Amino acid sequence: MISHKQYLIFIFLLPILFFNSISARELKSGSEYLTPATREMQNDDFANPGMTAVEEGRVEFHRAGVNDKTCATCHGENGSKFNLKKIASYPIYNKEYEKPFTLQEQVNFCGEEYLDNVPYVYDCTDLVEIEAFVRYLARGEKVNVDITGPLKPFYEKGKKLYNTRFGQMNMACAVCHDQFAGQRLRGQVLSQGHSNGFPLYRLGSGKMTSLHGRLEECFRSFRAEPFDKGSDELINLELYLHSRGNGLSIETPAVRY
Ligand code: HEC
Ligand code: HEC
Repeated sequence: MISHKQYLIFIFLLPILFFNSISARELKSGSEYLTPATREMQNDDFANPGMTAVEEGRVEFHRAGVNDKTCATCHGENGSKFNLKKIASYPIYNKEYEKPFTLQEQVNFCGEEYLDNVPYVYDCTDLVEIEAFVRYLARGEKVNVDITGPLKPFYEKGKKLYNTRFGQMNMACAVCHDQFAGQRLRGQVLSQGHSNGFPLYRLGSGKMTSLHGRLEECFRSFRAEPFDKGSDELINLELYLHSRGNGLSIETPAVRY
């Protein structure tokens, strides 16, 4: 016999289980949870405040490095020679380093290797702006990260982290962004927690937020000690998040609260 309490818990969980079975099939970009006015702002380059960072990134892209070459020397004026599908496939596996390479790491590698520049600190403003510029060029491309090959073990680590409970509140990413996606938390609607809009502009802070910056915020929101930006843990998590959103369009620079 099940007790009255067990019965109530079951009844309470039923809509969540049902909701889950729907959301598991349907990928929803964070922009689908915005008000129509904010979505319009995101889609209009003249109104989107994140375009300032994109333009700063464009300036960096054309700035002469120590050896007087620029990024455009190889990738074309305004990045015209980029393979946009390739950009949408990051993080990729780097054979030399035997690890996943995020777009920021690729930019840093190119700067050091081909321009003789001193590498940027991971996630610093300049690097986030260059990333925003590069991803903006690939806007509309479908995220397509290949996790079937050598990235598989890194993907598994990221996935495990996503489902691990941490911190004083004993929360996991999956609790908020899988189980409770679509529901309200402290006045905000929880999205599925996708990465296709990053780097993005936050109306609340008036600043750009990188993916690792957002992850730091999420860790703090459930009172867990965040991992360092650019750490193996966050890079594995980034890999998991991007591949989990395979098929969504890149929307950089997205606009959020
Ligand atoms: C001397 C030529 C050269 C310069 C200069 C250069 N890169 Fe690259 N870049 C490459 C090559 C080659 C690859 C392909 C790497 C690979 O396939 O593993 C690449 C790959 C990339 C990618 C991944 C997308 C793609 O098309 O493969 C990005 C993004 C990128 N570079 C950004 C930059 C930025 C930003 C700068 C300036 C800081 C820069 N690069 C400077 C040669 C260059
Ligand atoms: C206590 C609930 C909670 C937990 C747990 C949580 N987040 Fe979030 N997260 C939020 C809220 C609130 C937002 C802002 C609204 C939204 O997009 O869901 C957010 C936003 C995000 C976004 C940005 C989505 C977008 O489109 O702008 C990503 C990515 C994300 N979270 C990933 C994670 C990851 C990875 C973890 C685990 C380390 C995590 N979150 C844990 C509450 C949470």
